[in-house]
Amino acid sequence: MKVLSIFGTRPEAIKMAPLVAALQNEPQINSVVCVTGQHREMLDQVLALFDLQAQHDLDIMVPNQTLNGLYARLISRVDGVLEAEQPDCVLVHGDTSTASACALASFHRRVRIGHVEAGLRTGNLAMPFPEEMNRRVVDAVGDMLFAPTAESRDNLLRENLAGRITVTGNTVIDALAMTSAKLAPGGPLALKLQGRYDWLDPNRRLLLVTGHRRESFGDGFRNICAALAELARRPDLQIVYPVHLNPQVRGVVMSELSGLANVHLIDPLDYLDFVWFMQRSHLILTDSGGVQEEAPYLGKPVLVMRDVTERPEAVRAGTVALVGTDAGRIVSEVSRLLDDPQLHDSFSRRINPYGDGKASQRIVDALCGRAVSEFDPYSAAPSPV
Ligand code: UD1
Ligand code: UDP
Repeated sequence: MKVLSIFGTRPEAIKMAPLVAALQNEPQINSVVCVTGQHREMLDQVLALFDLQAQHDLDIMVPNQTLNGLYARLISRVDGVLEAEQPDCVLVHGDTSTASACALASFHRRVRIGHVEAGLRTGNLAMPFPEEMNRRVVDAVGDMLFAPTAESRDNLLRENLAGRITVTGNTVIDALAMTSAKLAPGGPLALKLQGRYDWLDPNRRLLLVTGHRRESFGDGFRNICAALAELARRPDLQIVYPVHLNPQVRGVVMSELSGLANVHLIDPLDYLDFVWFMQRSHLILTDSGGVQEEAPYLGKPVLVMRDVTERPEAVRAGTVALVGTDAGRIVSEVSRLLDDPQLHDSFSRRINPYGDGKASQRIVDALCGRAVSEFDPYSAAPSPV
């Protein structure tokens, strides 16, 4: 069976890397990889870290790409790969333009589609935009829906998609478990990274920040920057912010926060380095989907700068909270976690609602028609880190 995996952004590559490795180890599967290059630098970092070789690279990114321009290039360029490879099945991931455009192109050619990370929903097409639309489109045309959790399965059942769903856990935990195991405290890689980031102040607690959501462009990001500028005045805090390469994000962040004491604006980090920073952080402020899934595994509190999330599991477990993009609210919620050790402790429990490190193998087993023991967070062992 020929399986063509298609992905193009940083989070898709992180989450597809362990799956591609599992596909390559499966004798029944001939695995082919196509990267769209929706992200260029941020994708290439991940390909290098996981030693991922792509047989096709559509190289579609242009600076300041519009959604329609991106989508049109994706559909037209991926069609040539589908024609050349004639796959039995295409795998796409999540909710990006790459995922929905490549799923539609495969649907038009009547190729079977597997959706990795199926069934996430906010119920609001504007939040996140355009991702909520993308994930619904892929699920609607998908033949095999690999839902990470029971909640995502239930979302699909409400849309009458029974019969195609397998609950697998999220492959991000496979990637994180592999990566964090390499960073054992005192080990050679951890020491190397400690040397690389020797400008970190051991006497200040670390607030790690990321942000890129389109619905926060403009006022949302200006508010986030105002909150960070206020928090940077605390003598017990240092802020590390790897700034996403999207010019809509970079423009505001660089102009509002450059040169501020205690705020380190750095380029997007390699995944290994970012995991090292997550391990060292006191708390994380983000709008990222992947970081919301990773931090509970590492026992790190997360405040999410969004009004809704498609990842309710950790919010319910009490290790993630939504704070929106109002500057005053961000400052007060971060301050509460800094000033109340009991509250911080209650956010720092290590929980595994998103996966147990075996999601990729479950997906491969399902593709091969083998019985799958579905992911159940209640029987998953606690995270080892
Ligand atoms: C995209 C996805 C979003 C995902 C996010 C993860 C869509 C519509 N958006 O958002 O779902 O959560 O990735 O990060 O699919 N850029 C570079 N180099 C890079 C990456 C980006 O220069 O390596 C710049 C380019 O100018 C590009 C811009 O960032 O035009 C935006 O990239 P794009 O993929 O369109 O949107 P993201 O905001 O990154
Ligand atoms: N990440 C990274 N380097 C960074 C910031 C994030 O490798 O500088 C990783 C992070 O650990 C997570 C993924 O990138 O696995 C999340 O990507 P992003 O926030 O861009 O996308 P989302 O998850 O929101 O789709």
